[in-house]
Amino acid sequence: MSAVLLDGKALGSRIEDELVGRLTALKAKGIEPHLAVVLAGEDAASHVYVRNKERSCKRIGIRSTRIDLPSSVGQDELMQVIADLNADDSVHGILVQSPTPSGTDEIAITEAIDPAKDVDGFHPMNLGRLVMGRSDGLVPCTPAGVMALLADADIDLVGAKAVIIGRSRIVGMPLALLLAQKGIDATVTIAHSRTEDIASICRSADLVIAAIGRPATIKADWIKSGATVIDVGISRVADDSRPNGTRLAGDVDPTAAEVAGHITPVPGGVGPMTIAMLMSNTVKAAEMSFD
Ligand code: GUN
Repeated sequence: MSAVLLDGKALGSRIEDELVGRLTALKAKGIEPHLAVVLAGEDAASHVYVRNKERSCKRIGIRSTRIDLPSSVGQDELMQVIADLNADDSVHGILVQSPTPSGTDEIAITEAIDPAKDVDGFHPMNLGRLVMGRSDGLVPCTPAGVMALLADADIDLVGAKAVIIGRSRIVGMPLALLLAQKGIDATVTIAHSRTEDIASICRSADLVIAAIGRPATIKADWIKSGATVIDVGISRVADDSRPNGTRLAGDVDPTAAEVAGHITPVPGGVGPMTIAMLMSNTVKAAEMSFD
C-alpha cells in the first residue's frame, strides 16, 4: 500500500488565495494588515523560515516589517522592541522567531506581546482559550495547519486514537487540546522523551503526529496499516547524492509511506501550512483591531 500524500503546499496556497478577498475588504476600510517579524541571531533555519513568511506576505498583499537583531541582543532591548511594536497602531501582528538567542528569556518575551497581536498564538491568553474549548481566537499556526490538513482530507477523527510524539508549547500541547476538543473528539495520547515503548503506543494509533525534530525516528513498523501520519519535524541531514551535500528530513522514516493511509511529505507538508495559518492569523488580528 502506498499512502495518499497530504499536500500542504497546495492547500496552503489555496488558503492564502482565499484571504485575498478579506484583505481587499480591509484595505477598502483603510486598514493595511501589517506583520512585524523579529529575528534575533544567526540561526540558519530561522532565517529561511522568516524569508518564507515574508514571501507569503508579499504574495498576498500583507505589509511585513522585519526587525533584525544581533545574537548579542539582551533581554531589555528585546522587551523594548516588543513594547514599541505593541504601541504601534499600524502593526497588527507580532512574531518573534524562535529560538531567541541564548541568555534571553523566550517565555517572558512571549508574555510581553499584546495578546491581540500575538499571531503565533503562544501568549498564555491565547493558549488558555484553547483549554476553554475556544478555537476562534489566535490559534498556534502549526497545530492549526495540521487540523486544516486533516479536515481537508476528510480524515474521521471522532473516537480516533491520536498519538502526538512531542510535548512542546508550540506544537504538541496545543495540538492535543485541538484534537480533544468537542466536535473533533479524538482520544489523545501525548508521548515524550520519558514515555516507555513509544513504538507499541504508536502501533495502536489511527493518527500519529511526530513533532520531536529528530530525523527518521518513527519507523514504518510503528505505524498501523492505513493510519494517518503527520510529520511536523524538519531537520537538515547529510546526503552525498545532493549537489549541496544535504537534504531536509522529517521525524518519520520515509518507508512509513508504504504502510500509512495518508502521510505528509517533508518538505511540502506541514511547513507551508504553518505559514498559511500565520497569514490567516494576521488577517484575523487586523479584522479584530476595529471590531
Ligand atoms: N520557530 C519554529 N517554529 C516557529 C513558529 O511557528 N513560530 C515562531 N515564532 N518561531 C518558530
